[in-house]
Amino acid sequence: MKALIVSYCPRGERSRTRQLVEYAVGFLKSKKAVVEVLDLAKEVPDLLTPERLASYYRRNYMGEKLAGKDLAQLKKMDAMTAQLMAADLAVVAYPMYNFSQPAIVKAWFDSVMQKGKTWDFAQGGYAGLMKNRKALIISTSGGAYAGDLAGMDHSVPLSKLHLSFMGFAVEAVTGAGINRYPEKESDILGQAKAEIQKFLTGFAQ
Ligand SMILES: Cc1cc2nc3c(=O)[nH]c(=O)nc-3n(C[C@H](O)[C@H](O)[C@H](O)COP(=O)(O)O)c2cc1C
Repeated sequence: MKALIVSYCPRGERSRTRQLVEYAVGFLKSKKAVVEVLDLAKEVPDLLTPERLASYYRRNYMGEKLAGKDLAQLKKMDAMTAQLMAADLAVVAYPMYNFSQPAIVKAWFDSVMQKGKTWDFAQGGYAGLMKNRKALIISTSGGAYAGDLAGMDHSVPLSKLHLSFMGFAVEAVTGAGINRYPEKESDILGQAKAEIQKFLTGFAQ
C-alpha cells in the first residue's frame, strides 16, 4: 500500500492544515503504509505556459513523439504524474484561499490531469484511468460554508471533481470555520482528525 501526500501548507509550523497532514502521515506509518510526501511549498509545479501547453497538446492529443527541449519542458509535470499514478492512495491537503484551491495546488492538478495518462476520452465521454485508487482531501478554512453559503466553496468541490474525473474514489475532511470560531479551533481540528482516522482505517484494511 503506497500513499502519496500532496500538501501545500506555506505557513509551516503555524499551519493548522499541516497538523492534520502530520496526523494522517503518522497514522499511515503506524499501519506500515509506504508514505511519500510531495511538499508543494518546496516543489512548486510548472505552469501551462504557451510553450509548455503546445508540447503537451502535440504529445498527448496529437500523438507526436517529442524530444529535446519540447520533451524536457514537460519533465516536472510528467514526474508529478508518474508519482500520482504509482500511488494507491492520494491525500491532497491545503487551506482554502479566496474560496478555492491555492494557485499552486491548481498548478499541481494541471500537471497531473494529463489526457492519456490519468484520464482519456471514451465512448463519446470521459474515462478516469485512476480506477481502484482512493483519494482524501484535507482542507481547512477560516469560514464555514454550509447551508445557504455552500455555493461559496469552490475549493473542496473543485478538488473532488478533479480527483473523481481521474477515477479516484474521493472523500474530504474539512476543518471549517477556524477563524470565524477561534474558541472552537481545537474541537474543529479534533473532529477532523477523527474523520481522517476513520477514512484511513478503512483504507488500511
Ligand atoms: C491568502 C489567503 C486567502 C484566504 N481565503 C480564505 C477564503 O476565501 N475563505 C476562508 O474561509 N478562509 C480563507 N483564508 C483563511 C484560511 O483558509 C484559514 O485560515 C486556514 O485555516 C489557513 O490554514 P493554515 O493554518 O494551514 O495556513 C485565507 C487565508 C489566506 C492566507
